[in-house]
Amino acid sequence: DILPVILSGGSGTRLWPLSREAYPKQFLPLVGEDTMLQATWRRVAGLAGHAPMVVANAEHRFMVAEQLREAGAEGATVILEPMGRNTAPAIAVAALEAMAEGEDALLLVLPSDHVIVDVAAFHAAVQLARAQADAGKLVTFGIQPTGPETGYGYIKATGEGVRAVEKFVEKPDRATAEAYVASGQYYWNSGMFLFRASRYLAELGRLKPDILAACRETLVKSKRDEDFIRLDGEAFAACPSDSIDYAVMEKTADAALVPLDSGWSDVGSWAALWEVSPQDADGNAWHGDVISIGCRNSYAHGERLIAMVGLEDIVVVDTDDALLVGHRDRIQEVKDIVGSLKRDG
Ligand code: GDD
Ligand code: MG
Repeated sequence: DILPVILSGGSGTRLWPLSREAYPKQFLPLVGEDTMLQATWRRVAGLAGHAPMVVANAEHRFMVAEQLREAGAEGATVILEPMGRNTAPAIAVAALEAMAEGEDALLLVLPSDHVIVDVAAFHAAVQLARAQADAGKLVTFGIQPTGPETGYGYIKATGEGVRAVEKFVEKPDRATAEAYVASGQYYWNSGMFLFRASRYLAELGRLKPDILAACRETLVKSKRDEDFIRLDGEAFAACPSDSIDYAVMEKTADAALVPLDSGWSDVGSWAALWEVSPQDADGNAWHGDVISIGCRNSYAHGERLIAMVGLEDIVVVDTDDALLVGHRDRIQEVKDIVGSLKRDG
């Protein structure tokens, strides 16, 4: 059976002023009514044979519990991390917990902050991946690259259907990324995976035994109540921090890739969110109460009424205590504003 493991530990600041450290993007409704966490669960609820496991920062426990309840994720297991140790340990504690609950389930690992437009295409890709994952492969879902982004993993995989991974390179430099894209043989790693719990643990134990050992130790010492599994602070602090991409996927010989053509975004900027949001005939995407005249290819998001006249390629994001206005092509530079706000206190 498929057990969704939802990773909710990130703290994105690229969607300032909406996303803050105390309120990262996975807890926000960025497309439609559901928050990204809720959308992640709803997208797979029909595929899953189990309630989800959600691995999150302990500080976010009330938001996670409340949002899962609202989304009908009854019986979800919420694992709380006292601090972030990146994705390899987060997935390891989920896999260990799944095994402890008595089933070597197929783990469908899902970041909590991605947008997928065509859910049927995503389901078809997961179904295609299933047989390979059953047979012991670590399956990733590959996205056709649209440019030499350096924030992604690049996967060389050729052939038809489910492909063997020939090479996995996490976050290459610019020149390397350009060469990969030009070759036409590489996919972006979507950061979603399907594999047996035992298979992931075996590869992690072979490649990073110290991470596996620390996660075992942590889970044994953790406190459980009705709502949460609280990972032991001292034991988890001793765990090395590493991503699944560097720790396992770059090195394993058993990776396989299923291409995913579903409209996908990890929503790294307001411009990326505009791209995957439903747009009107003039290319505008509005979230909230927006009145516009003569605008094109623009994005607005807010609670109050927003009125826009004669604007092209503009992003407006309104919140109670801050307003962002910028050109769509440069809106990723908002991270510099966040940086200077932090410096100035
Ligand atoms: N629970 C938990 N704990 N979750 C975490 C932690 C952690 O310590 N660190 C990150 N996550 C969650 C994030 O919230 C996000 O949903 C997901 O794991 C991936 O982490 P990112 O930090 O966003 O990774 P990335 O974007 O740099 O790279 C990954 O995703 C790319 C696609 O978006 C890699 O898998 C790349 O290869 C991939 O291309
Ligand atoms: Mg990411």
